[in-house]
Amino acid sequence: MEDKTSIKKKYIDKIKKLKKHNELYYSKSKPIISDKDYDELKLSIINLEKKYSYLNHKDSPSKIVGFKPSKNFTKQKHKVPMLSLSNVFNREDLTNFEKKIKNYLNLKKNQIFEYSVEPKIDGISASLTYKNGSFVSGLSRGDGYEGELITENLRTIKDIPKFINAKDFPQNIEIRGEVYIEKKDFEKLKEKFANPRNAASGSLRQKYSSETKKIPLKFIAYTFGQFDSNTFQKQSDFLIFLKKSGFKICKYNNLISNIDDLIKNHENFEKKRYELEYDVDGLVYKINDLNLQQRLGFVGNAPRWAAAHKFSAASSFSKILKIDIQVGRTGALTPVAKIKPVNIGGVVVSNATLHNEDEINKKDIRVGDIVQIERAGDVIPHVISVDLKKRPSKSIRYKFPDKCPSCGSQVEKEFNNQTKKYDAVKRCSSEGYSCEKIAIEKIKHFVSKDALNIDGFGKKVVEKFWEKKFIRFPQDIFKLDYNKIKELDGWGQQSVNNLKYSINKSKNITLSKFIFSLGIRHIGQENAKLIAKHLQNKEKFFKINKKFNFNLFLNIDGIGEIQISSIKKFFSIKENLEIVKNLSSDLNIENENLNNEGKFKNSTFMITGKLQSMSRAEIKSIIEKNSGKILSSVSKKLDYLIVGEKPTIKKINQAKELNIKVLNQNELMKLLN
Ligand code: IVH
Repeated sequence: MEDKTSIKKKYIDKIKKLKKHNELYYSKSKPIISDKDYDELKLSIINLEKKYSYLNHKDSPSKIVGFKPSKNFTKQKHKVPMLSLSNVFNREDLTNFEKKIKNYLNLKKNQIFEYSVEPKIDGISASLTYKNGSFVSGLSRGDGYEGELITENLRTIKDIPKFINAKDFPQNIEIRGEVYIEKKDFEKLKEKFANPRNAASGSLRQKYSSETKKIPLKFIAYTFGQFDSNTFQKQSDFLIFLKKSGFKICKYNNLISNIDDLIKNHENFEKKRYELEYDVDGLVYKINDLNLQQRLGFVGNAPRWAAAHKFSAASSFSKILKIDIQVGRTGALTPVAKIKPVNIGGVVVSNATLHNEDEINKKDIRVGDIVQIERAGDVIPHVISVDLKKRPSKSIRYKFPDKCPSCGSQVEKEFNNQTKKYDAVKRCSSEGYSCEKIAIEKIKHFVSKDALNIDGFGKKVVEKFWEKKFIRFPQDIFKLDYNKIKELDGWGQQSVNNLKYSINKSKNITLSKFIFSLGIRHIGQENAKLIAKHLQNKEKFFKINKKFNFNLFLNIDGIGEIQISSIKKFFSIKENLEIVKNLSSDLNIENENLNNEGKFKNSTFMITGKLQSMSRAEIKSIIEKNSGKILSSVSKKLDYLIVGEKPTIKKINQAKELNIKVLNQNELMKLLN
């Protein structure tokens, strides 16, 4: 029998050999062994790891799951963003989803919608551009706004038509759909990837299309991106057209018209899902009428007109080894169970969130318990139940800490004035940057994608720089000593140059992103945009201090008491004022790019009464899309008062007195053509 040392040596030698061949193949494009020998080498490493669990190496092919943001491809902006879908899990969510649509469109409660119901195939989406019937370029989804140009790799997929002869095929169109791998084909790739989705994305983003070609990727089309003269009335018509043009569409697509039937269909389909040829993680419901889709538009990152009805998640049992308390950016204490690693639906899980103290108490979750853990999509795994029969006899109830584990401050529960209840979440009572964990999280937020978006400044880098005392506040990022960074493990001249470059690049930022980057509680991306739009001018933001009349923000549709009191609190802290002041000189903040060229440029509107066939939210969004501004009271500043059913008569009288134009909905629409 071989001893441990010689097995280890054999293993390391193989890894080194693989590394050499990778280098020859990927960087020098000069492989010296056949693909077959290369694959065998990889497999022999994986087999050794399977046999001897102590073998482990960072360069092992088993560590390569999925993809890293790749430098192999050129990035390109999507002409129409590739957004995500909001999720529904049950009848209640689904009813709410439909209710919101009816409210937005101002339709009666008994209105019936037809839905295009499409399986949500678990692959990765791609956007294909066709010009005069030829496939000219293809992008991955990326972050939804910018993708990677992966044309050549997409070209290797047989399901993607390269030329389309159909006479009525538009001159310019983007076709979007899912690249996936069938379960039976995944069987052969099991050693290399954790699940079919990773296999699809990994293969699609190979540096060389010759590598992609070896993997039997499939493509199913389901929507369009940019589409110049779209005359389709229905999503289902568009799907038929896709099929006629030579695309593959999902054979399980159908049309359903009410919630009961949607639920029945979901139940039946969920039972079938394991027999399907590919992984499906839910059903997508889309309002079939494209005109309604257009009217409904988007909220945040997802369309109002579609939702994904998820299937129940994969689950497994494991043991809780300990319970850690994480402190988040807003001071929230989140208990996390460290569990014995377990494979749940293709992914190894070793952490599960326990949400908050109430959740632990309710389920009486204890260290040492055997628990059932569920994992759904990209959501953090969570504990669903405790197996009490397996509880050790000496187990004791878990006691949630009453001091912040990071800074020792008292923890508190907030009282919610609206619900008249205490929040379930316990928070560190210290103010921001004096608690180490909160400060680190705030800086992570500051550099993150949706804020300053500093490439290469990930969470690990923030932690390292904190540990080295290079940063304590966001502004320290702009005064970094690069000579010291260069000396750190894993850093060198090139990576320092890259970091310097991305930090400098991040200095150009819009006012709304800047507001968002400050991490003010309750001020997410949408609210930051609203505030930036309202202020219009960065100088106004910099002038905000304790004495500012925060109630002015109540005029902003979407900003309420909770947001105001949070902003107020933020500006009452000296440290925060200091941060804003510093950043205002470190950064080059651009005033919000106001859509100032619309028909209603420089015009102000107010609405009173209920409008026909349209909700207030919709009419507001139409006015704003055309660069108009909404006011909340009648004053000399107002240009138009829009009057619906049962208006406030006083407002009409005031408007007439001030010579303000009073219009009904039709007259407003005429103004817009
Ligand atoms: S429609 C804005 N249709 O789901 C509309 N998406 O969470 C979004 N997906 O990235 C796309 N099947 O990868 C649509 N029939 C289908 C889909 C589908 C799978 C995926 C797609 C997208 C994600 C959205």
